[in-house]
Amino acid sequence: MMSSTTAVTAAIDRVPVEICKGINGLEKVVLREARGSSAEVYLFGGHVTSWKNDHGEELLFISNKAIFKPPKPIRGGIPICFPQFSNHGSLEQHGFARNRFWSIDTNPPPFPTNSPTKTFVDLILKSTEEDMKIWPHSFEFRLRVTLGPSGDLMLTSRIRNNNTDGKPFTFTFAYHTYFSVSDISEVRVEGLETLDYLDNLQNKQRFTEQGDAITFESEVDKIYLSTPTKIAILDHEKKRTFVIRKDGLPDAVVWNPWDKKAKAMADFGDDEYKHMLCVEAAAVEKPITLKPGEEWRGRQELSAVPSSYCSGQLDPQRVLLGS
Ligand code: BG6
Repeated sequence: MMSSTTAVTAAIDRVPVEICKGINGLEKVVLREARGSSAEVYLFGGHVTSWKNDHGEELLFISNKAIFKPPKPIRGGIPICFPQFSNHGSLEQHGFARNRFWSIDTNPPPFPTNSPTKTFVDLILKSTEEDMKIWPHSFEFRLRVTLGPSGDLMLTSRIRNNNTDGKPFTFTFAYHTYFSVSDISEVRVEGLETLDYLDNLQNKQRFTEQGDAITFESEVDKIYLSTPTKIAILDHEKKRTFVIRKDGLPDAVVWNPWDKKAKAMADFGDDEYKHMLCVEAAAVEKPITLKPGEEWRGRQELSAVPSSYCSGQLDPQRVLLGS
């Protein structure tokens, strides 16, 4: 599992990013910020595999048994689910974007942003003839991965319908983020209480969440519907809170396989479910339809803030309602 140290530096827009060989020789892009935070993106899958804070601590979960061998998607980090979330359709589970080779987009169209951030990389995935056999649509998927000066990680997706036959297309989508947590039994998610959800463990039936913050003591696989733009994951033991801000992505999937499913996954350690939680900004319940020439945009921004919940320094309401 050693990464190659031969790094090539390429100037992409204003701040140079490193392009080097990662595990099994797969190409990856490394973003670094002056204060010490970093992120890594594999071209295979357009897949963020690492996000570290200023102290070099890894914030995303990657399985020790992850197989960096195409076409098997990488277990952990941030897989991109497109054009289908999970088994909600006739395509392979979570669509094909997570196991295609993306390219660096050297000349992306103007990217409207208020942010002065210069540390980013633009990737692009276009439909190939092979893809058209399973999903007969011409698309361009542009993904910008940005590392903010304070270490925040932003992913913005722009998906365009390039069909020349006049036909619209419809898709579902998710940023399947695996957060690294100290101990799943010490974690709570805030922002989803009282919402309706579809339970993947009960034939996608619809239920309503009770009033308390969400905690974990068994397998969970739920799609929360019409969620707020901000969701917080409080890691009591680590005294860290992840804040997810999202735009264009109304749903939020919460997944932890727990012990039995963990054992059934070849690329996941038996006990690793204790140290991860997926909270996925998604568009599932109401699929997105694009006419030819139309573009959709979906964005998530992740921050990790130190919290001392037990000593009352963190007011969860402020995390959720504040800026
Ligand atoms: C979650 C789904 O998003 O991804 C689960 O809700 C699924 O049902 C999980 O098991 C992992 O999927 P995969 O294909 O990466 O093993």
